[in-house]
Amino acid sequence: MLNLRGRHLVSPSDLTLAEIDSIIALAQDMQRQRGNYSELCRGKILATLFYEPSTRTKLSFESAMLRMGGSILGFSDANASAVAKGESLADTIRVMDAYADIIVLRHPKEGAPKLASAYSRVPIVNGGDGGHQHPTQTLTDLLTIQAYKGRCSDLSVAFCGDLRYGRTVHSLIETLVRYPGGKFYLISPEELVLPLRLREYLQRTSSCQIIECRSMEDVLPHIDILYMTRIQKERFFNEADYLRLKNSYILDAAKLSLAKQDLVVMHPLPRVNEIAYEVDADPRAAYFAQAEYGVYVRMSLMAHLLGVTS
Ligand code: NCD
Repeated sequence: MLNLRGRHLVSPSDLTLAEIDSIIALAQDMQRQRGNYSELCRGKILATLFYEPSTRTKLSFESAMLRMGGSILGFSDANASAVAKGESLADTIRVMDAYADIIVLRHPKEGAPKLASAYSRVPIVNGGDGGHQHPTQTLTDLLTIQAYKGRCSDLSVAFCGDLRYGRTVHSLIETLVRYPGGKFYLISPEELVLPLRLREYLQRTSSCQIIECRSMEDVLPHIDILYMTRIQKERFFNEADYLRLKNSYILDAAKLSLAKQDLVVMHPLPRVNEIAYEVDADPRAAYFAQAEYGVYVRMSLMAHLLGVTS
């Protein structure tokens, strides 16, 4: 196990591939033998500070800490905290680290977790910052890919939907291109292509193939993984654009029949309309298993950052 004690996780690039492997390996063991870890975080406190809505990220972190014998506190409605009185994030963080051993922060402003990490004496974990990054979803996704495919390299992966504002896509693609042999299809409407900064970064740093396209049907027969995403309504400036784009891509059984038998369909959830309910019964649908993997990977991540892996 590698030593990550006291580190922050703001962006997936904060972790080397060896560190990611270490987190995934422990998560796999935690899944196999959960009972062995039920006292690992006894006496530790997790604070979840959520300035934006969440179901899975917040609750899977809390479940993960409780399953390791630790305790949890926090808020999911910033208006019920001192933020409503005008308190700055820096001041909130300055006191929070006296109340908890590790902090997960979700915030609508890009860069908020980075700022928080400058003021915190305990590990800050980015639970999603605006349309920017979502590194713990990436760890969840990598554990899922590892479970279904046995590897994270040499895979053809399509990202489909809102690639502009989808922070889970940004973090995952930035990480997957660090593994060799990947081929990536970016399927989105013209208005929702991957941000230029990220596209340039991918071109500069990776030897992987990146193919932009508009049609899901053209790509489906060629891929190993389909990563569907929700159009991020809350990041749009006007509702008319959202309404026009919201049903751009819908995966249904007919489209899925074009794909390989061992395709893996992933989605960070929540889904709105982009995967028809009929797809849920298909063995290729991995999104509910993916949400479960999120608990094990967060157990492992917290054990690493708290320095209590064994
Ligand atoms: C994602 C998020 O918050 O970015 N949800 C999650 O954490 N599983 C995806 C989304 O909201 O579309």
